[in-house]
Amino acid sequence: MPETKYTVAIVVLLILVIALGAALGYVVSTKPGVVTTTVTETVTETKTVTTTVTGPAPTTSPSPTTTTPSPTITTTTPPPSELTFVVIGKSVHPYWSIVEAGVKKAAEELGVNGIFWVPQKEDVQAQLRTMDTYIAQGVAGIAIAPSDPDAATPYINKALEKGIPVITIDTDAPQSNRLAYLGTGNWKAGYLAGLTMWYYLKEKGYAKPGATLKIAILTGSLTARNSLERIDGFKKAITDCAEKDPDIQGNIEIQFLGPYNDKEDPVQAFNLAMSVIQANPDLHGAFGVYAYDGPAWAKALKQAGIEPGKVVLIEFDVTPDNIPPIIEGYAQATIGQRQYFMGYYGVKLLYNMTVMGWEEALKQFIPNYPENKIYDTGVDIVGLEHVEFTAPTGDKVVIMSLKEYKDLAVELGIDPELLFGEYLEKI
Ligand code: BGC
Repeated sequence: MPETKYTVAIVVLLILVIALGAALGYVVSTKPGVVTTTVTETVTETKTVTTTVTGPAPTTSPSPTTTTPSPTITTTTPPPSELTFVVIGKSVHPYWSIVEAGVKKAAEELGVNGIFWVPQKEDVQAQLRTMDTYIAQGVAGIAIAPSDPDAATPYINKALEKGIPVITIDTDAPQSNRLAYLGTGNWKAGYLAGLTMWYYLKEKGYAKPGATLKIAILTGSLTARNSLERIDGFKKAITDCAEKDPDIQGNIEIQFLGPYNDKEDPVQAFNLAMSVIQANPDLHGAFGVYAYDGPAWAKALKQAGIEPGKVVLIEFDVTPDNIPPIIEGYAQATIGQRQYFMGYYGVKLLYNMTVMGWEEALKQFIPNYPENKIYDTGVDIVGLEHVEFTAPTGDKVVIMSLKEYKDLAVELGIDPELLFGEYLEKI
């Protein structure tokens, strides 16, 4: 029967269409399946990186993003254990031991080799010789705190030409081709030190109309930018305050003594501090630009028999060396850097650059890159007690107590033992 034939033909055709549709459907549905697999992989990868980029980001800076390199790029990168990242600091000091702790922690989390190196005291040539050795070895990335940015520039550029990513930490070399600077905004930090100095000069009655104020500055470098910027910011804050303070209105003479350069040598720092104190019995203020300068001032004041608090002392940094001057009352405050993150994020950033490409990693880590190449790790002002004031410049300043700062360190994921050492118990 022709009708039956037609029916059979139609049924066969229908079956074929359904089969084809099913087949097509399968192909279509397998495509998302493939994508899903990829996405799952990416998510897994992202998770891994999220755990490695732990430690809350400093409050003043955004957290580095956790986006992961695509698996294809990852496969072209050597395994982490074959990657070596080098961090070059400026001198032997607990300040740098804290940076080192950050380097080691990041290296451990990533499974890479993290090398940390410092000269005994400021030594431009030793820094650069060391850098050159690591360039020749073809390490995966270098972070350096150049004691002399001009001298370091050809080395930084040479490393980059050889394909080794270089960033600066702690102190910058912006005229070089360094890819980024990760550290304190030093001018601003110096300005805060100046505002704090002014607050105590007023509180002690030293800053008054018609007075002459003597403020001495001790530093460890006259070439490193962090030192020069801090000194500049410090002086500017004091002259701004002197002009804007309604009680003074510029009717005061400020004499800045120094900067005296101890080249990051604590013995020289102490000797210089002592000779300045002896030559100026009428000293009102002392500024310690580098980590050991505050303690050097405090030790010299003590040995000269000057009672705590007579000379206003503002230190830089929170390390076990900087705590006794605060506890004993020789130092009124210190500007705490978050140098742990210079080491920690320094290695993380170099690693990310290696696995995902320089530009991509930098874009994800630094806000507004490439217009901006600076990641500010932030500072905190720390003293014995909590103090808040509005400076004559209108700036609101908060000095955290040692206890508050200890709690903050814990919150940020920095071991407070590193910052306070044996004094941790007393805080
Ligand atoms: C500075 C470093 C310096 C360290 C120890 C810190 O305040 O940021 O550049 O090496 O003090 O001297």
